[in-house]
Amino acid sequence: MSRILSTSNEQLALREAVEKLRLGACFAIPTETVYGLAADATNGKAVAKIFDMKQRPAFNPLICHVDSLDMARDYGQFNEIALKLAQAFWPGPLTLVVPLAENSKSHDLVTAGLGSIGLRHPKGFSSKIISAFGKPLAAPSANVSGRVSPTAASHVQEEFYDSELLIIDDGPCQVGLESTIVKVEGGAVTLLRPGGITKEQIETQIECEVRLAKPVDGIQAPGMMASHYAPNAKVKLGCKKPEADAAWLSFGNASYEVDGPTLNLSETGNLIEAASNLYAFMKQLDATGTNKICVSSIPHNGLGIAINDRLKRAAAPRETI
Ligand code: TXA
Ligand code: MG
Repeated sequence: MSRILSTSNEQLALREAVEKLRLGACFAIPTETVYGLAADATNGKAVAKIFDMKQRPAFNPLICHVDSLDMARDYGQFNEIALKLAQAFWPGPLTLVVPLAENSKSHDLVTAGLGSIGLRHPKGFSSKIISAFGKPLAAPSANVSGRVSPTAASHVQEEFYDSELLIIDDGPCQVGLESTIVKVEGGAVTLLRPGGITKEQIETQIECEVRLAKPVDGIQAPGMMASHYAPNAKVKLGCKKPEADAAWLSFGNASYEVDGPTLNLSETGNLIEAASNLYAFMKQLDATGTNKICVSSIPHNGLGIAINDRLKRAAAPRETI
């Protein structure tokens, strides 16, 4: 059964939270907007557990939560506009999508392989957890995919009643609505998701117009994810065995004679491990210069659904992306 731990004993709650993060676990954190399902943003296996718990059918990028603008700048590039917005609204319910910093240590699963990253400095206890841990936390809302976001610890518990989830309880969320998401790309500022901070509040700060995302921008993340990460090599899915003159991306313990480059997403058939390896392994195989990457079939359940969604995008003809 999931377990609620109050922040009334602050030191104890901080200790448990940091311990979970060091172990690569995911757990629920309070923020001023909604409760989040958090994990170390630099640990692929830990982040994969979030997708697994949420039963997300695709790898949407996750918001990376930081404790300061200083920490944020190790992960994302802030131009003058992004700086102004962070200084005006952080800590608070504003997520800034900015270009990924060159040496960002965020895992590819957090950014879904995009060249951008969503960063937010939340108010309250979660910020203390991040400071105590020293690294950012990836966290979507702590609900099963497609359901309403939780604004109290008891909501999270109802959602994940039968799991061993730790839920840090800091009382009901003050905002109760997800953060506003703004993308800053050079001089262009686009509202990707309305939320706790209004378009007008943002415009007042930066003295320029905030563009509203077109419907197509709403699916911009998965779309961009596809084009950004579509390898140069052709990708062939559901292969039973490796082919001559092709790279081989396998899953599970079957071993084959392979001439070309080969990597195994998870020898033990663990979908969490496979998800955390997926982006890096596709990149590595592509970097060998191979013309084709053959991928063995991945079970279509649990996290396998998101893995297969991603693979399907990678294999789609370029013009359909
Ligand atoms: O208030 C909130 O924002 C809560 C709390 C926990 O912080 N989090 C939250 O996360 O609502 P989530 O995963 O439910 O929504 C994140 C949204 C996704 O729709 C995703 O598309 C967008 O943020 N996003 C994150 N990184 C992005 C990126 N690099 N480019 C475009 N969109 C991004
Ligand atoms: Mg959500």
